[in-house]
Amino acid sequence: MNDNNIQLQHFILNQQKRFPYAKGDFTLLLSDIILAGKIISREVNKAGLVEILGLTGHENVQGEQVQKLDDFANNAFLNILSKNESVGGVASEEMAEPDYFLKHTKARYCVLFDPLDGSSNIDVNVSIGTIFSIYKLLNEGECTEQDFLRKGSEQVAAGYILYGSSTMLVFTTGEGVHGFTLDSSLGEFLLSHEGLSIPEPSKRYYSINEGNYKYWNEKTREYIDYLKHQDKPFSLRYIGSLVSDFHRSLIYGGIFMYPLDYKNPDKPKGKLRLMYEANPLAMIAKNAGGSASNGEKDILEIKPSELHQREPLYIGTASFVNEAVSYINGGKK
Ligand code: AHG
Ligand code: MN
Ligand code: MN
Repeated sequence: MNDNNIQLQHFILNQQKRFPYAKGDFTLLLSDIILAGKIISREVNKAGLVEILGLTGHENVQGEQVQKLDDFANNAFLNILSKNESVGGVASEEMAEPDYFLKHTKARYCVLFDPLDGSSNIDVNVSIGTIFSIYKLLNEGECTEQDFLRKGSEQVAAGYILYGSSTMLVFTTGEGVHGFTLDSSLGEFLLSHEGLSIPEPSKRYYSINEGNYKYWNEKTREYIDYLKHQDKPFSLRYIGSLVSDFHRSLIYGGIFMYPLDYKNPDKPKGKLRLMYEANPLAMIAKNAGGSASNGEKDILEIKPSELHQREPLYIGTASFVNEAVSYINGGKK
């Protein structure tokens, strides 16, 4: 460990000095989220060895088959955050409604999370992750549904934990984007990427599920065809775990796109969830000099009407996002 590999809690406490409202409970909240991440990381890393692979046999509110690790990850967060009195309630991709901790009468935050992102990759040993988003309660001591239906610009912190070749935490509190790598011999996250910013790379990566080509509108198809017919074509990279595809765009630069799909021509829709996928990653992108749009507007400025609302997502290097959105939407920023 050299002197710049400072341990996560020290880093947060140093950051916290700039947080007038945080009285140490913010540090504890982030530490609890990290503890949940360590517990999930341990299970992810041995998933192949114990009977944790495969499906649970039931569906979640999204109508998706729930993998055992989704359940395990969701319970890890619930068990830990329900004991943290600064948390008034949580909302999760795996739960139809938020869970309110009514006894926490001094609560100051609520947390939304995708406990396990990239579930379809669990059984094939491809990187998966956890995405989280933290808001201050509108009224301290009470948590209601309105606390969860907030614009992403109101988040006080957001981040993800990536269970990949190493386990990494990337988060922002609005003071830059920082990456920590888990040293499992110490059980500590150590600072490994201070002050991340999304580059504007000469070698341009784009990330999209081309298998949906026939479900896109004409302008989207034209834009993707345009990317392929450059003198120096873009490189396509698609992992199928949003958290991994985003992390590559953060480190190398590039754009991740999940456009509206017109499977149902009368009701085109996005796939990714605003509150616990798009918003937290958009806060990170913005604090790293990038941007995120739903094709019409800044992701962080969308006022949600429902908890599990889905949106199209264009996120990554700002100039690439702007180019894609203006091409596909005919100039609408
Ligand atoms: P989750 O596993 O939390 O349901 O998220 C899966 C999401 C996201 O991780 C990824 O970008 C996207 O689904 C992949 O969708 P396709 O398989 O349709 O490409
Ligand atoms: Mn997800
Ligand atoms: Mn998930």
